[in-house]
Amino acid sequence: MTATISSRLFDWYNDHARDLPWRAPPGGSRPDPYRVWLSEVMLQQTTVAAVAPYFAKFTDVWPTVEALAAAPEEDVMAAWAGLGYYSRARNLVKCARTVAEMGGFPQAEAELKKLPGLGDYTAAAVAAIAFGERAVVVDANVERVVARLFAIEEPLPAARKAIRSRADEITPDNRAGDFAQAMMDLGATICTARDARCLLCPLHTECEARKSGDPLRLPVKAPK
Ligand code: ADE
Repeated sequence: MTATISSRLFDWYNDHARDLPWRAPPGGSRPDPYRVWLSEVMLQQTTVAAVAPYFAKFTDVWPTVEALAAAPEEDVMAAWAGLGYYSRARNLVKCARTVAEMGGFPQAEAELKKLPGLGDYTAAAVAAIAFGERAVVVDANVERVVARLFAIEEPLPAARKAIRSRADEITPDNRAGDFAQAMMDLGATICTARDARCLLCPLHTECEARKSGDPLRLPVKAPK
């Protein structure tokens, strides 16, 4: 079952991956860790569409982590204006300076987690996408896909533990970065919060929520 899930997902991703500026060109080469890190920090709480022009501006002005490390903080803050959550920009500069001093990004998830501004999600995403580590990457899109796939009835946020454990089970040893990004693309384009386009979904034959007939019910949110 778990091998079926990743192989169906990879087949789908090979044809339907979104062409996003921080991804490596097709053909198996690894993307630049700086671009992966920068994009993942920008994508926290912000949509792909809003991030794209900022990502282009940042990589144009500061093409490497060393260039960003050398930038005056006020220039970075000014370039960030409009993206919101400004602590991200302050941590961005701090992190760039730490990484430049270290001579480059550490590769392991556990080391990445020690950098300023890198929480569980970002550390796992960079480890998997930039370095190929088998890290378990769970954002809100992945959370929804997994909750539906396994019909997890427990409400969020308590369900996060069960969701992470299921996500871990289905993460393959190889191509963990592609797997994570495929799950995110599936959640962003097919298995969305408002719509579940099950007929287009590569996982529809495995999906417990689809079998139950009402996938949109999941994940359940605890009443506030
Ligand atoms: N959302 C956050 N990071 C992403 C990525 N690498 N691909 C697609 N959606 C994302």
